[in-house]
Amino acid sequence: MAPVTNGRYVFNEYPTGYPVIDKTVSYDATNTIDLWNVPLNGGTLIKVLVLSIDPFLRNRMDMPDPEAAFSWSFKKGDPIEGYGVGVVLRTENSALKKGDLVYGLYDFQEYVIWPGLPANGISRVLENKENLPLSAYVGVAGMPGQTAYYGWKEYASPKNGEVAFVTTGAGPIGATVIQLAKAAGLKVIASAGSDEKVAYMKSIGADVAFNYKTTKTATVLQKEGPINIFWDNVGGETFEAAIEYAATGARFLQCGSVSTYNATEVYPVKNLTKITVKELHIHGFNVAGSLATKYREEFYATVPGQIARGEIKYKEYVLRGLDKAGQGLLDVLTGKNFGKCVIIVADE
Ligand SMILES: NC(=O)c1ccc[n+]([C@@H]2O[C@H](COP(=O)([O-])OP(=O)(O)OC[C@H]3O[C@@H](n4cnc5c(N)ncnc54)[C@H](OP(=O)(O)O)[C@@H]3O)[C@@H](O)[C@H]2O)c1
Repeated sequence: MAPVTNGRYVFNEYPTGYPVIDKTVSYDATNTIDLWNVPLNGGTLIKVLVLSIDPFLRNRMDMPDPEAAFSWSFKKGDPIEGYGVGVVLRTENSALKKGDLVYGLYDFQEYVIWPGLPANGISRVLENKENLPLSAYVGVAGMPGQTAYYGWKEYASPKNGEVAFVTTGAGPIGATVIQLAKAAGLKVIASAGSDEKVAYMKSIGADVAFNYKTTKTATVLQKEGPINIFWDNVGGETFEAAIEYAATGARFLQCGSVSTYNATEVYPVKNLTKITVKELHIHGFNVAGSLATKYREEFYATVPGQIARGEIKYKEYVLRGLDKAGQGLLDVLTGKNFGKCVIIVADE
């Protein structure tokens, strides 16, 4: 069989502000691959089926700090890398077989050769006993769902009747946290950037949902707070409002700060002293960090079943074709995505 195109989504240059499609990143269809004869050297040829567009892709486009011991910035000329699911086409690795569905970190390419299952604790063969759509495994049943589950379990310490405030509530992490908070008997305040997203957040259990672009966060928190739990996906001015209207001893789960990722100037949070005065507990955490070892297997044993039974609901924003990766990233960074942004690269 003749070689086929092996398209890739390439990183070209470090952006200032938002990435620019065909400048910062671009789709390159010049490579080909001979699927039957390409040497595997003990490794595995995988056809990439689904890739995830996550906000951290923008963080990895930041200029590397020459002083830093470690840099996770993308290298110019390389494909960008993110979470995905692929299917094994050929393998010389006895731990895998043709047809296995593999979750892990992938170069944004249509076909990849893995020397082995990377020993990063992330990669795994998906049994998918619950028969979920594969895209769910990069969203609510994958890294974003894990982020919500690990952080909530470790740091929320919810007590019945308390008040939680969740940001980016229509995205995969925020929407999952809304449902976890509701299940714990909390009053849930949630924010997102459109009226359609407000309606969705209410439909999955938020008691108070608002569009932060048309209603000031501080005004809502003043009326509906004080808050005992703050799930921060946004940072900046929202973080400042949460400090202002937090109850004494409130728990802050510092998951992300998407309002800063493309900003050329940092918002100066003005009330940091109140962290001390109110004895706030500020918890930063990283899904690939220390909590992963503690909760990963529990997550896979619990959450896919809850999704299949409809106990955890999710929404997806689906784009087809690897060439849409840059568009997907811009949509996520500007809030055009309504639900978890996934790229369907190929059908099984
Ligand atoms: N700690 C960890 O290990 C970890 C792991 C994964 C993700 N994260 C973080 O978790 C957060 C949510 O991730 P996700 O995958 O669920 O993303 P997502 O909701 O699919 O997409 C990001 C959302 O951020 C919102 N947004 C963009 N610019 C904003 C701004 N200036 N102010 C307020 N909201 C803005 C947009 O929604 P609106 O329409 O609502 O504006 C957009 O849809 C991000 O901060 C991400 O970096 C952390």
